[in-house]
Amino acid sequence: MNQKALFIIFGGTGDLAYRKLYPALFNLYEKGYLKEDFAVIGTARRPWSNDHYHEVVMSAIEDAGRDSGRTNDDLPRKFANHFYYQSHNVDDVDHYVALRKLADELDEKYQLEGNRIFYLAMAPRFFGTIAGHLKDQQLLTDGDGFNRLIIEKPFGRDYPSAKELNDSISGSFKEEQIFRIDHYLGKEPIQSIAGLRFGNALFNSLWNKEHIDNIQITLAESLGVEERAGYYETAGAMRDMVQNHIMQIVSLLTMERPDVFDPSHLREKKIEAVENIQMYSKEEVDQNFVRGQYGEDEFKTQLAYRDEEGTDDNSQIETFVAGKLITHNPSLDGVPIYIRTGKRLTKKSTQVNIVFKNNDKNIFSDNPDEKLETNVLTMHIEPDQGFTLEFNTKTGNQGYKLSPVHLRYRKTAAEKARIPDAYEGLIRDALAGDKTNFAHWHEVAQAWKIMDVVRNTWDAETPDFPNYVSGSMGPQAADDLLTRDGREWVFNPRK
Ligand code: BG6
Repeated sequence: MNQKALFIIFGGTGDLAYRKLYPALFNLYEKGYLKEDFAVIGTARRPWSNDHYHEVVMSAIEDAGRDSGRTNDDLPRKFANHFYYQSHNVDDVDHYVALRKLADELDEKYQLEGNRIFYLAMAPRFFGTIAGHLKDQQLLTDGDGFNRLIIEKPFGRDYPSAKELNDSISGSFKEEQIFRIDHYLGKEPIQSIAGLRFGNALFNSLWNKEHIDNIQITLAESLGVEERAGYYETAGAMRDMVQNHIMQIVSLLTMERPDVFDPSHLREKKIEAVENIQMYSKEEVDQNFVRGQYGEDEFKTQLAYRDEEGTDDNSQIETFVAGKLITHNPSLDGVPIYIRTGKRLTKKSTQVNIVFKNNDKNIFSDNPDEKLETNVLTMHIEPDQGFTLEFNTKTGNQGYKLSPVHLRYRKTAAEKARIPDAYEGLIRDALAGDKTNFAHWHEVAQAWKIMDVVRNTWDAETPDFPNYVSGSMGPQAADDLLTRDGREWVFNPRK
């Protein structure tokens, strides 16, 4: 069903709006989720005209490859005509007054029934100011229409700053009106974790501490820090990838089964899951967490992180994190979750490996202690999407020998192309008021608390960086973390 709404995008001239939001909104328009009753106000400091804004929106669609084969079609122009630009200084009250006037006019013109989505596509330090002015200058409608706030990470740099940020917006918007984007939650393979676990008796019945030996999550990137050194120098892999994306995946993998699959039941179970991750002492951090920073590659064709443009020559920021988390959620109580993410690793791969326990006794060997290969379920999230199930079967004619085979399912290129982009799905959900794929404040807060212990321990020590070669899978200590427990990383592209 189509939704009527006015979008007010703060940061309308920015990169996120251009690369993600405009193409995503266009896709929703093309598919009919947005019809003629929608409008967008883009605001930012630059003094653009509406005409120029329309050109920018159309070129964003073109750059996203969304107007190919549509040379005779004026859909992008019709779409862009719904866009209005207003130059805006976030601190200036008068601008909000003008913004309200324009918003009210557009509400009337397009019959939007007071539905408003405020999208803050800009630095979080402005969130509080904007949210406060939106309320004070009565940009929030008070009839039957909805008012929703969409915000982007980083939600703070630690728990205290995240709380301050949250407090600064919660004076204007209630938790149910706040949609915190974690783009990983917009990815279909991540969304399908719940379906795989709870929609299959096979996995549902095995998803417990009796059968699962350990869980591994890898978010490996082959790219370096690219043009984002300024941001990355203040963030690092822990804040950039672990606190948000990895912790969200951890909670989806470890949560108990909700009685009903709806946003509120799901949220309750996810919050419980993240609250049941063991909080470490400083000593435990040293034993269970590894950080790294990339140096040059072995052929010296890639720069070391410290030599990239915009980074400090002595930067102590981590571009790699590996760690062992322990869940105390009842079903999986005590099961280790090994996590790993890094830049300039061997290849881009996001995957989850569920490693099952071995049988106690091997009845197929003269030696009952001879280990069989363990069963592993791999969820391929990116760039491949699908599953691999590894199990043992009889091979050869001589005797009764077992060897592992792989049952593979991969989405085809055509199937992958049909999956909406993460932003398209998330904006559609926000329009529908569906919070399934958004982070709740309690999840964000607890994830920060867990990370803060690690961060504080690290900040008190000087790391010996760089400690891994570009193109490798990170520092040796990341492998040792598992070897010590008699395990190894399932995903090892160098093997
Ligand atoms: C972002 C991080 O949240 O996720 C980036 O800020 C990272 O540093 C990106 O590269 C990875 O996302 P994806 O979807 O490419 O795996």
